[in-house]
Amino acid sequence: MLIFLFLFQLVLSIQGDDIPPCPNGGVVFNIPQNTSVVTWYPYNFTKTVPTFPQNYECLYKINVPSGWFAQIDLAVFNGNNTSVVVQVIDQLQRIENVTTSNYEYFYFIANGGTIKLSTENNRVQFGFSVTWNQYNVKTQTAYNISKSSFDPLVFRGYDLYPSIMKADTKVSVTMMTPIYYLQKNLRGIIFFDGPNWNSTSLGTGLQLLNSKTQYVSSGQYMTILFLGRTFSYDNIRMLIQDYEHTKGIMQFQGMSCQDNWECPSIVLDASSGPSALQSYTDNSIAYDEIMSLEGTGTLEVYLGSVTENKTNMVASYQAQNNNAMRFPQEVPGKVKTYVLREGNATITILPSRYNFAETKEFGRKGFIVSPNYGSLSMMQSINGYIESPKNSIANFRFSVNADMDGGAIIKITGRKNHQDVFTRFYNSSNPPMFLDECFGSDLYVEYDTGSKPTTGFYMEFHIQQGSFKSSVLTIICSVLLFNLFK
Ligand SMILES: *[C@@H]1O[C@H](CO)[C@@H](O)[C@H](O)[C@H]1NC(C)=O
Ligand SMILES: *[C@@H]1O[C@H](CO)[C@@H](O)[C@H](O)[C@H]1NC(C)=O
Ligand SMILES: *[C@@H]1O[C@H](CO)[C@@H](O)[C@H](O)[C@H]1NC(C)=O
Ligand SMILES: *[C@@H]1O[C@H](CO)[C@@H](O)[C@H](O)[C@H]1NC(C)=O
Ligand SMILES: *[C@@H]1O[C@H](CO)[C@@H](O)[C@H](O)[C@H]1NC(C)=O
Ligand SMILES: *[C@@H]1O[C@H](CO)[C@@H](O)[C@H](O)[C@H]1NC(C)=O
Ligand SMILES: *[C@@H]1O[C@H](CO)[C@@H](O)[C@H](O)[C@H]1NC(C)=O
Ligand SMILES: *[C@@H]1O[C@H](CO)[C@@H](O)[C@H](O)[C@H]1NC(C)=O
Ligand SMILES: *[C@@H]1O[C@H](CO)[C@@H](O)[C@H](O)[C@H]1NC(C)=O
Ligand SMILES: *[C@@H]1O[C@H](CO)[C@@H](O)[C@H](O)[C@H]1NC(C)=O
Repeated sequence: MLIFLFLFQLVLSIQGDDIPPCPNGGVVFNIPQNTSVVTWYPYNFTKTVPTFPQNYECLYKINVPSGWFAQIDLAVFNGNNTSVVVQVIDQLQRIENVTTSNYEYFYFIANGGTIKLSTENNRVQFGFSVTWNQYNVKTQTAYNISKSSFDPLVFRGYDLYPSIMKADTKVSVTMMTPIYYLQKNLRGIIFFDGPNWNSTSLGTGLQLLNSKTQYVSSGQYMTILFLGRTFSYDNIRMLIQDYEHTKGIMQFQGMSCQDNWECPSIVLDASSGPSALQSYTDNSIAYDEIMSLEGTGTLEVYLGSVTENKTNMVASYQAQNNNAMRFPQEVPGKVKTYVLREGNATITILPSRYNFAETKEFGRKGFIVSPNYGSLSMMQSINGYIESPKNSIANFRFSVNADMDGGAIIKITGRKNHQDVFTRFYNSSNPPMFLDECFGSDLYVEYDTGSKPTTGFYMEFHIQQGSFKSSVLTIICSVLLFNLFK
């Protein structure tokens, strides 16, 4: 008897399952009386997803009352992975094309949305379950977003409560790209143009990511809601800042890879306006390394947000020039923004500081900068290390611009054959000379903030060919100069 049943089921699944015909106008789903009950289509399937006939078309309309959301657990398996057999259309009439969905969650907010199935000549397995839930709005968190801050708020949903952002002008939000298998979770993040969830929706996190743009509130407020399950959002990050810092930028991409293998080269296409790459690293003093830049246009590098007066801009590169002598270049800080002003360029950035020290050729130029350079901060301490090309003596020429307030100090040490041949110590009563140089095999630089916030440290360097003779002379010269200045 059991074997017979099993065979019967097998035959059914080979021939196509028991699929009801699509009624005229499709199928409408409304919130059930008892919202603990799960609604299934076409029936309660647990292991085997029902197979639909070819050329089957149907619309499934899922209605959602105000203050509720529908969570749809969607299964779509498709013999031909390339055909779009399902479209999910939300209340903004935005369409997501689906080729396969391995029980992924989709969400509809009020007034609901539509799932469109169209199997054409494909072998399609399809089915879903829906539950309706209320927004969790009892607790709310509020954030002030100041236009004078260069530091975007790196935001993640710790809980499923609404977060209300209030900016000085308008709120701008951009999405950091999570690792590919988490991108589907961005469907459950909803942005509202106002101080509560009754405001107009701007769209979902996934739509924001895919559009490579920003959502901007029309007034001072934006509300962010996280639907579904808390743990879905553990590794999701977005940047929130005042629109003052993002207006005029046409395209946004966000990079938050933690390992080199996760970090693709990024194309910044500024052919229709400035294009920004925002990079986020988890630690407070973390590093990017710009490895290469190719194409056309001017790339500006900011620590934190973009500013009009460029106080926190630390470099600018012409992509069409040969920049080989200027890379790799280390850029410290939690958030960095790279803006291509016009043209089209490809940039490669790695989240490390492994490559910076080594110098391949004489002629190299670069800089060492503190992580919050340009804004007043206690977090400005930095160390930097650069070497001469292998087995050579280099002439390290450098200029320093530093805020020595509050007991800040600078130490610069040049070495040759592991011996110190050059040391400088600077503080507020003994500030650094603007231009200096040292001959040796490596240079170590340290800036420490004292008891007060400072605007930081910036040192430009140029590594040229050196020789021992001139080295002795120059050290003597430098010391003489040094004493003269004192
Ligand atoms: C609602 O449905 C759940 C799950 O099926 C059940 O346990 C519960 O008793 C139902 N509640 C009412 C009021 O019918
Ligand atoms: C669906 O089927 C599973 C397993 O057969 C069962 O545990 C579950 O209660 C069913 N759900 C509904 C809503 O009937
Ligand atoms: C379709 O995609 C799934 C998962 O990505 C894969 O396992 C399967 O081999 C693909 N099928 C075809 C026909 O390409
Ligand atoms: C997959 O779908 C595409 C577009 O509908 C079609 O051109 C192609 O022939 C299909 N391939 C197979 C193996 O069915
Ligand atoms: C979705 O697919 C349809 C038809 O396959 C296509 O015309 C449309 O451009 C696609 N839309 C998106 C957003 O990919
Ligand atoms: C935001 O600013 C307002 C008024 O300036 C203040 O009352 C409120 O406490 C601030 N909220 C937060 C979360 O800092
Ligand atoms: C630069 O602009 C920022 C706001 O974006 C402001 O806080 C800062 O004071 C300005 N700095 C200078 C030197 O004008
Ligand atoms: C949203 O609108 C509903 C009905 O219009 C109202 O009951 C509710 O208080 C509003 N919620 C907020 C947060 O304003
Ligand atoms: C920008 O450069 C990329 C990579 O070189 C290229 O694929 C793309 O077509 C270019 N876009 C424009 C608008 O030139
Ligand atoms: C600066 O350093 C010199 C030499 O080490 C020291 O004599 C002086 O007291 C220091 N000044 C301050 C303000 O710390």
